[in-house]
Amino acid sequence: MTCYICGLLFSLMKPTKYFIIDFDSTFTKVEAFDALADISLKDHPEKKAIKKQIEDLTNQGMDGSLSVRESLKQRLKLLSPNKSHLEQLVVVLRGMVSDSFKRNRTFFEENNGHVYIISNGFHAFIDPIVMEYGIKKENIFANQFHFNDKGEVIGFDEENPLSSNNGKVEQLKQLNLPGDVYVIGDGYTDYEIKHSGLANKFYAFTENVERDSILKKADHITPSLDEFLYLNNLNTVISYPKNRINVLLLESVHPVAVKLMKEEGFNVEVYPAGLTEDELCEKIANVSILGIRSKTQVTAKVLENANRLMAIGAFCIGTNQIDLDAASKKGIAVFNAPFSNTRSVVELAIAEIIMLMRNLPDKFAKMHEGSWNKSASNSFEIRGKNLGIVGYGSIGSQLSVLAEGLGMKVFYYDTEEKLALGNATKCKSLKELLQVADVVSLHVDGRSSNRHMIGAQELDQMKKGVILLNLSRGHVVDVKALKERILDGHIRGCGMDVFEEEPISNDEKFASELCGLPNVILTPHIGGSTLEAQENIAHFVPNKLSDYINTGSTSQSVNFPNLVLPILANAHRLIHIHNNVPGVLAKINSVLADNGINIAGQYLKTTEHIGYVITDINKEYNKNLIKEMRSIEHTIKFRVLY
Ligand code: NAI
Repeated sequence: MTCYICGLLFSLMKPTKYFIIDFDSTFTKVEAFDALADISLKDHPEKKAIKKQIEDLTNQGMDGSLSVRESLKQRLKLLSPNKSHLEQLVVVLRGMVSDSFKRNRTFFEENNGHVYIISNGFHAFIDPIVMEYGIKKENIFANQFHFNDKGEVIGFDEENPLSSNNGKVEQLKQLNLPGDVYVIGDGYTDYEIKHSGLANKFYAFTENVERDSILKKADHITPSLDEFLYLNNLNTVISYPKNRINVLLLESVHPVAVKLMKEEGFNVEVYPAGLTEDELCEKIANVSILGIRSKTQVTAKVLENANRLMAIGAFCIGTNQIDLDAASKKGIAVFNAPFSNTRSVVELAIAEIIMLMRNLPDKFAKMHEGSWNKSASNSFEIRGKNLGIVGYGSIGSQLSVLAEGLGMKVFYYDTEEKLALGNATKCKSLKELLQVADVVSLHVDGRSSNRHMIGAQELDQMKKGVILLNLSRGHVVDVKALKERILDGHIRGCGMDVFEEEPISNDEKFASELCGLPNVILTPHIGGSTLEAQENIAHFVPNKLSDYINTGSTSQSVNFPNLVLPILANAHRLIHIHNNVPGVLAKINSVLADNGINIAGQYLKTTEHIGYVITDINKEYNKNLIKEMRSIEHTIKFRVLY
């Protein structure tokens, strides 16, 4: 047992830590003078040119070609601020405090005696912002404006070291702090403190800006305050800094997705192409989140090497390229974008229905051959025709709504009980639907039992002169039988976007029995391929991944039990993934009880392979608890969210 007196002596012997923090682009996301220019020059006709001059003067002050004092003077002259502008600036800056500073408010409150703000900026806008975080007025060092009677800035306190070159060093010398000094900032003047020997360490803060020249000089690069606190074993509201979570995005996922993942604070690496199995086996060892599209094969062998992997995002609809069973057994949650291109498929279906009803594919071909055939025969409106939708899921049901809007009468058949939208009529059997429809549109999923669900018998059941669309899966239609019925005129037209055999790349040739048949539209599986759909996917998948990392929520995961969780407030969240065998929940709760922990909320869901238990606790816990939870038999993964 540690003796109280020894503990006290030890803590007295430990050097006190002082934290020197820069204001512009560190405490806040922006340079205050840039924000001030937007306010004081708001209606100025030459605002753009003046802002450029201000930027040049800032750089000249930084690179030494102009003294800091002269640079300040000239910039203030251009800005001509007054008290009202400064009041507005404070409001703007209040909303621009760096995100990691905002979430670590308790660090400032708990260490307020030891946190110093040292800035070449001005008290008038720094004090109101930082004091809201508990930083003491006497610990804020900055310049002071001079005002005239009208409240206009007419100058500043030129005796202040912070308006001169090397000013931060001078200021720190005067402070003479009796302990270890850590400097956090984004600029050269912050590094100078370390260079002068007055600080133990300089942390280059890159949450808002990255200046290459100082990154090389820094003891550590800290993409957020979380990282600084984590490195120094100080209290942090985040259990693990996000910049330590490695994200690998392959196959040129949409830039919006890359941006969103970076904004979340993850350490993101991007690859334009996919990786082979061997390359991925090597690369995956350090990856916590993997993003792929349809080409990258995430095999059991890849997953064997993926010991840090928590989640996979498929930036597409299908997940056949991922070994979902192996992922589940390793406790890796998989997310995709099941609805992001629904609308695109529906629009193409509508377009094809109209084109086929008008016999347009044949008319296009004839026109390209120079043949003019103006005639209304075999051309119909879609208004009032019966549309039979097979598979009333995301796509089928949306097609139902749009087609009805165009005046079609909608009939649908689904193996599951589905609510009829609008005035759609539900059919009790596929046969019933096929017998009534003028147009049949297939939107079933790709389960193997759906292979050739439309064969010779079903084609016979359809009305003579029917139009058939398949924008779902290639294996759903027996193409041989379809060809016969197109040639004998029973099927008047068809639109096929998907095929049992599809080329793997654009370089491979396409072949189908349907090539060259009359009134047939063939498209290369592009029902969902629009730029809007790509962008929707780029928003949807990162949201799912971040939610999983931040809250443990597995809503719409393809392989994990789906749990939608409330946002965690004032509690710790324990996330336990285990093999689905009896008794694990009881063991979790007994470990919690043995540690005297009261459960604030608990959520459990299982699938065939895994159990997913979330337990919210509102008490400080002993680090031993984590060890004990991890060693519960059948545990696959365990993590704690603060
Ligand atoms: P979904 O899963 O929301 O809906 C499928 C529906 O089909 C479900 O309601 C299911 O109960 C029903 N179903 C399954 N088998 C059936 C059967 N034998 N008879 C009647 N109903 C049956 O799927 P979603 O998102 O609507 O997609 C539909 C199809 O479209 C899928 O096969 C998907 O792969 C495909 N798709 C094609 C695209 C393209 O580019 N052409 C793009 C997006 C999806």
